[in-house]
Formats: sequence, C-alpha cells, structure tokens
Amino acid sequence: MGGAKNSALPLMFACLLTDEVCRLSNVPEVADIETAARLLEGLGARVERPAAGEMEIDCSAVDQWVAPYDLVRKMRASFVALGPLLARFGRARVSWPGGCAIGSRPVDVHIAGLSRLGAAIEQEHGYVEAQAPKLVGGHIILELPSVGATENVMMAAVAAEGVTRLENAAREPEIIDLADALVKMGAVVRGAGSSVIEIEGVAKLGAMEHAVATDRIVAGTYLVAGAISGGEVEVSAARAEHLQSPLEVLEAAGAVVERKTDSVSLRMDGRPRPFEVATAAYPGFPTDLQAQFMALACLADGESRIDETIFENRFMHVQELARMGADIGLAGNRALVKGRERLSGAPVMATDLRASVSLVLAGLAAEGETEVLRVYHLDRGYESLESNLRRLGADIRREKA
Ligand code: EPU
Repeated sequence: MGGAKNSALPLMFACLLTDEVCRLSNVPEVADIETAARLLEGLGARVERPAAGEMEIDCSAVDQWVAPYDLVRKMRASFVALGPLLARFGRARVSWPGGCAIGSRPVDVHIAGLSRLGAAIEQEHGYVEAQAPKLVGGHIILELPSVGATENVMMAAVAAEGVTRLENAAREPEIIDLADALVKMGAVVRGAGSSVIEIEGVAKLGAMEHAVATDRIVAGTYLVAGAISGGEVEVSAARAEHLQSPLEVLEAAGAVVERKTDSVSLRMDGRPRPFEVATAAYPGFPTDLQAQFMALACLADGESRIDETIFENRFMHVQELARMGADIGLAGNRALVKGRERLSGAPVMATDLRASVSLVLAGLAAEGETEVLRVYHLDRGYESLESNLRRLGADIRREKA
C-alpha cells in the first residue's frame, strides 16, 4: 500500500515555501503526482525521483508565480499552489479551476480564508490573482470544512506575521500529514486533526524529509474488493484509525474485519447485507469511497441507502452500474440500491477516478467479462491496481486502445 495522493499533492506544493531541498518518500506513482511535478517544474523547481516512491524537490530557483490553465484544468488540486506561492512571492496567479465532473466545486472558501490573511484577490481572464505584500495572521472561520481551503490557508499562514486561528478546519488525516511536514520545515502549527488549527507565522522555513501517510481511500477500495468477491484480503500498511467509518459499514454488511497495528484484513462469506451510508467530512464516511460501496450494495441481500452530501453530482457511476444489471433508484442526492444476486459483465465507461474503480470492483463480481473504457481516470490515483487485484485472484488485464 503506497502513500496517499491527496497527502502527497499538498506536500509537494509546500516545498514552494523553502529554498532548501525537500525529500518526500512513499510518493505514489500516479498521474496526478506527475501533473503536480510538471507544475512545479514550470515554476522553475527541480523535481527528481531518485528511487521508486522517493521524490526530491528543490524550489530554490522558482521565479514564477503563475499556475497555468493547462495544468490546473487537468487537476483541481493545483489550486492549492495559491497559498504557498502567495507566501513566497507576495503574489500569485492560479487558473480558476472551474467545474469538474463530480460537481461545480467553487473556491470561495479558499478566497475568503486567504483574504482574512490580508490578500487582495481578484478574478480576471480566467485566473485568480492574489496579492499580499505582507500576510498577517488572522481569525478565520471557514464556511465549510474544505480540505483544499484548509491546506491553502495553512500554507499561507505559516509565513504570515503573527498568529492565525483557523476554525471549522478540515480534520482529514491529510491535514495532519501536511501539518507534520510544515512543522519539520520550522513552522509552528497546533491542533491539526481537530477543527481548530493555530498557526504562528515564522520568518523562514527550511528543508524537510517526510514519508507520505498511506492512502486510506486506496486501502478502503481493496477492502471492498475483498468484500464484493466474497473473499479474504489483507491490506498492509493500512491504518484502521483512518478508516473507522468505512470499516463499520463493512461490518454492518457482514464482513469480519481485523484491525491490526499496521494492516487491516477482511473476510466475507456469502452475500453482503444491505447497509446505509451518508458521506460526510472526516471522520464521517468519505465521499471518495461512496462509489466503491455502491458497487458492493448492488450485490447486497436487500435495499441499501446511500446519501452523497459532499458533492452534488457524484453519482455518474449509477448509470454505468445499471448497464451491468444493477437496480439503483436516484432521488436527488439519495441512491436506493436494491441488491441483486448477480451483476452481468458489460462494456462501461469510467467518468472520474472513484467512479472508474467502482466499475472495476463491480466487474470482479459480475458474471462474464466487463470492459472498462477510459481507464486513464484510474491512473490519476491508483498505482498497480491490476497487478494488486491479480494477486488477490482477479482476472484483469489492461488493453491498450
Ligand atoms: N467547496 C465550496 N467552496 C470552496 C471549497 C469547497 O463550496 O471554496 C465545496 C466543494 O464544492 C465540495 C465540498 O465543499 O462540495 C468539499 O470540498 P473540499 O474543498 O473539501 O474538497 P477538495 O479539497 O477540492 C479533496 C480531495 C477530494 C475529496 C474531497 C472531499 C484532494 C486533492 N482532493 O478535494 O478527492 O473528494 O477533498 O473529501 O485532496 C479524489 O481523490 O477522488 C477526490 C476528489
């Protein structure tokens, strides 16, 4: 089990805060990480991978503060470069990320947070322009606990003058990982993982060496793979404490889950029982596992209920699962899934990262062959998915189009 892409991305952008060389390990080899590396290189950084999973980032020569459209449009997480660029140059221009497949995903919470630190922010020609000759710590209450906004504010506040108190902060493990790395760089950050984070600005940040925390969403995906195929799986390096809510749902579905110090294992006999899930900010049930659990619900012995409360349009897998014989009724942000004894393999289309993996999971349990098209979505966040699933006994191969 590799490092979390959603931890590694902000950690890579945090390297913009220093002139010294930073070293990250446990960096997953996925497309989004490559996009972030291209973005940093475009700004003038040197990014190298001295060995598998390792990354060396030297931002000493960075002299650009513009994150261009062609990269931000590929990956919304690039917007998190805004905070560190602003801290470094007193100005930053980052392409407006716009909508994406899973919802409109505005950036108003990021902008409100950075404005409270003294930044003047405007939107012009498709770009967000921020200027702050001097950032000053402030009291910020986020309108909602946005993960990206929390990261942007943290990375600007570490270099601001004075103390920042950030309330209603996101509490995801990725926020703790970022705070740990910033502290290694010399920042003063307290309370990450709770909804109030306090940051004391410092004049200069230095190098860090940091191992990216393991990917709880990838771990959860493999556990669902075990559950959906009525088998056994042990996910090494998975941290049960980051997966509390999904593990409880798996147990409600009838899985036997064993939480070990540095792994989680699961055994499932027979059909899953129906279950109820409502996505929520951490420590609630992660939206990034909703599609995978829906695939599981399609095979349950009864009706499951799945509410998506984070994104307004994250049910695109529903019509593809229906092509495989799933019986799913949609009403607004609620899906009612009537489980069937079997799904039938079919050609289906991936629409986003998590939707695409849910189709692969459904394909594992379906009778006959399932062909998932547009698998490049998978490559944004899953490393060695086919070979890992093959090790679990799946018959899966990638075909070049
Ligand atoms: N939102 C606003 N205004 C803002 C920011 C967010 O209304 O200024 C809304 C969003 O539209 C969304 C909700 O708040 O409805 C939560 O968004 P958040 O900002 O927390 O999400 P994010 O930082 O853009 C990260 C992950 C996503 C994950 C979400 C929620 C990264 C790089 N991305 O996105 O991961 O779904 O948190 O947990 O960390 C994925 O990996 O597949 C993925 C989409």
